[in-house]
Amino acid sequence: MDIEAADFKKLRQLQWKIMENVAASALIPLMQIGDELGLFIHLYKTGPASAEEFSKSAGIDGRYGREWLLALSAAGYVTFTSEDDKFSLSAEQAAVFVENDGPALMIGAYNLLAGTIYNTEKIKSVFTSGTGVDWGRFHPCVFQGTAKFFKPSYAVNLVEKWIPNVHGLNEKLTNGASFADVGCGHGISTLMIAEAFPASKVVGFDIHQPSINEAKKLAKKSQLKNVEFVTASAKSYQGEFDVIGFFDCLHDLGDPVGAAKYANKKLRGGGTIMLIEPSASDNPEDNFNTIGQMYYCFSTMACIPASKSQEIGLALGAQAGPAKLFEILKESGFAEIKIAHQNASNMVIEATKP
Ligand SMILES: C[S@@+](CC[C@H](N)C(=O)[O-])C[C@H]1O[C@@H](n2cnc3c(N)ncnc32)[C@H](O)[C@@H]1O
Repeated sequence: MDIEAADFKKLRQLQWKIMENVAASALIPLMQIGDELGLFIHLYKTGPASAEEFSKSAGIDGRYGREWLLALSAAGYVTFTSEDDKFSLSAEQAAVFVENDGPALMIGAYNLLAGTIYNTEKIKSVFTSGTGVDWGRFHPCVFQGTAKFFKPSYAVNLVEKWIPNVHGLNEKLTNGASFADVGCGHGISTLMIAEAFPASKVVGFDIHQPSINEAKKLAKKSQLKNVEFVTASAKSYQGEFDVIGFFDCLHDLGDPVGAAKYANKKLRGGGTIMLIEPSASDNPEDNFNTIGQMYYCFSTMACIPASKSQEIGLALGAQAGPAKLFEILKESGFAEIKIAHQNASNMVIEATKP
């Protein structure tokens, strides 16, 4: 290796990019601690507050409290005013870190990141063996983080934009249809659909029993009568449906072709399959941006190992791209395959059972 051969300007740019990434990554444990100890909520309630006032109210040591506040102020996550040495959360900071049911919440991303770090040893071992890690063996932060990270996007898009953009779906569900949400996790999307379309019957399926248990708890709390959760794999659930959704899940399956073929069997004639997948181009280079970087990282740490742990182990990856996904649907007997809607982070693919 010869540093003399390096372009100095390019080297400096790369080093600066790494410094930015390192500084951002350094926030992960602080965010996890903040979330677990409820520090954002305390700051929101007590702020503007001195570090001592905040720490006392949060029940934490004052010196740790001050350093945590300063670190997050440096990141722009907390507001600091030097005139009075006080800390607070602006309306925007509260929206992303405190408002648990709000459409702007982003703190779940840090739960997911923390979860992937807890999984490092497990993933490192499959790098060499080439095998997989079952979704259920991941750290619980991954399950909680996935549900929390995706919820605001579902809250803003699912009923308002994604469903209305799938041909005839809004009408179908308004009039009353049966919907299967396969790989539903904690059932956030399932519950949203059930609430928005009371004439429809919605069933959430997932292979991971603890996630289904969590979904059942949320369903009980919601008091919705048209929703049900069942532990079942994507190739074993029972019933006949008008619509089957795979929301950020098809690429996690070992056998997505088998799952799509099974969905085809479980759909009534003219039924709809609806995929929500990360927005991605077929050309990897087009995915080399902030969102693409995040997805490739999550994919390496969760989607690929989860898929490889199952039968076939196709390991599509989170950014398989439309061409590959269309091919799977075509091979599984679907027609009228198209992208129904797309934004910076997700694309919705629809297809019909002829
Ligand atoms: C990334 S999570 C998405 C969860 C949920 N759809 C959401 O959007 O929040 C992927 C889900 O697929 C589930 N899953 C993985 N393999 C499965 C299989 N073979 N059959 C059914 N569910 C599966 C996992 O348990 C997990 O809950």
